[in-house]
Amino acid sequence: MDKFIRVTGAAAPLMRINIDTEVVIPIGRLIGHKRDELGPYCFEAWRYAPDGGENPEFVLNQPRYREAKILLAGDNFGCGSSREHAVWSLADFGFRCIIAPSFGDIFYWNCFQNGVLPIRLPEDQVKELAAEVEAAEQSLVTVDLESQAITTPSGRKITFTTDPERRDALLEGLDEIGMTLKLDAQIRAHQRRDRESRPWIYRREETAHVARLLILAGDGIGSEILAEVRRVAEWFIAKRQLAVELREELYGISAWKAHGELMRKETWDEIVAADAILFGATGSPEYDKIPAEARKVDQLLRMRKELDLFCNLRPVRTLPALGASSSLRPEVIAGCDMMIVRELCGGIYFAQPRSREKLSSGGERAVNTCMYTTGEVERIARAAFDLARARSGRVCSVDKSNVLTETGGLWRDTVQALRDQHYPDIELSHMYVDNCAMQLVRAPKQFDVLVTENLFGDILSDCAAMVAGSLGMLPSASLGPLRPDGGRHALYEPIHGSAPDIAGKGIANPLGAIMSFALCLRFSLGLAQEADRLERAVDAAIFHGARTADIAQPGEKVVSTKAMGDAVVAELEQSQ
Ligand code: IPM
Ligand code: MG
Repeated sequence: MDKFIRVTGAAAPLMRINIDTEVVIPIGRLIGHKRDELGPYCFEAWRYAPDGGENPEFVLNQPRYREAKILLAGDNFGCGSSREHAVWSLADFGFRCIIAPSFGDIFYWNCFQNGVLPIRLPEDQVKELAAEVEAAEQSLVTVDLESQAITTPSGRKITFTTDPERRDALLEGLDEIGMTLKLDAQIRAHQRRDRESRPWIYRREETAHVARLLILAGDGIGSEILAEVRRVAEWFIAKRQLAVELREELYGISAWKAHGELMRKETWDEIVAADAILFGATGSPEYDKIPAEARKVDQLLRMRKELDLFCNLRPVRTLPALGASSSLRPEVIAGCDMMIVRELCGGIYFAQPRSREKLSSGGERAVNTCMYTTGEVERIARAAFDLARARSGRVCSVDKSNVLTETGGLWRDTVQALRDQHYPDIELSHMYVDNCAMQLVRAPKQFDVLVTENLFGDILSDCAAMVAGSLGMLPSASLGPLRPDGGRHALYEPIHGSAPDIAGKGIANPLGAIMSFALCLRFSLGLAQEADRLERAVDAAIFHGARTADIAQPGEKVVSTKAMGDAVVAELEQSQ
């Protein structure tokens, strides 16, 4: 913005009262013209005759006022609509100062925001000045803001006053934002003191340490989809002041190729130190080429177990625009919104003994064991009940207690006892897993929160993917127990796998991974509103037609992984 210190120029008398902003710049000129293109339309209706020629009667068309820098006007100048364009067009025409007995309030303040000085003078003084200007040979007037004085054509001085802050701002060429930024150091110092004295009133990300997010893209399509997650995360860092540090480590086949190890100590240290892990996918035919000893331990299962990521959340939501990509009828899945809570550290996935041995009688014997303790069941049931309290208050617990009378029986009894003792407000139902598989595809809307053990959760969540339209859409969060400091280990991953058949082609759907990052915003970073923002951006990208191959209908345009990321980032930009 230009500074206003002193201006000398012709003063043009336009002594009408109630000059409206619509007269200054007609509404029809607001669209299609930039702020420095509005001068030619200033007072358009008065300056031009209906045939487009100039109206010679109009004061600003008279040669002595054509270059006028100061405008003298009647009462209530700039009344009417609050459009800032009125000041822009006057400034573009050449006016730096307007002198009138009174102004429209908003117009008056808009002047200061745009480098134009409005001066209020008593009516008789303005009239006197106008008469002097008209009578003088030269209508030159000087307005000096420093001394707050007007020098008339005859050399007479008229003093005026201006709000001291506004005056300083004009003298320095600063608008309101510029004035505020001048106080930046003081504002920051105040915030620092205030944050120390009452930290609880600040949002968590302003007081918390910078969170460490570790990207493990992993195998197959992992690197392609996590590249899009990284872009989304970087958008939040740049545009939403997200306080995170992004780190990245090789995982899986790429780690083996680079380091000759599937899990280096350095990578494991990063995993343990991270506030959250953004995981891509695991699984590749190339594992068969790695010595069996080196791949004995599945590193994803190791992370789940050693970080104690017992609570696996798999939200399943039907997006209206994707109804057609499901194998289920649209009316069956419309409006579904459920949360599968899967126990992730126990059951048959981890329990001992497990073995496979040759029998002397020929053939082999293989053993896997399913085991659960009361404590393991209680903590996952508690997580489900707590979540349900923030949703519909309904939980369906899934087991196979009719056959697995030991583990299934313990599961059912424990969940029921916890409900009776601590969650009487929760409506709890039980269902056998075989029936549940059928109900998920028959009438999925009956479910809200569904809690189940490790293996059943694995199977049912793939099944529920058809409710969302595509496996590529489903995110997940795997959370550890809350530590006393309020933190917890966490890993976020899409529930689809590594899809080796399409890896490297740039066509995978990154939305499951991007929505997993939304869960990270919600559960690890405590930023529920930012999570909502991202989920809305994904919905909007789909609503506006972005489709990767897995969710496209025949004949629909298919976009690449990267273009889907672009679409989400573009929607995020719109959300600002
Ligand atoms: C899942 C996956 C994993 C599982 C595999 C990759 C070990 O299918 O997260 O659903 O079985 O838990
Ligand atoms: Mg699975």
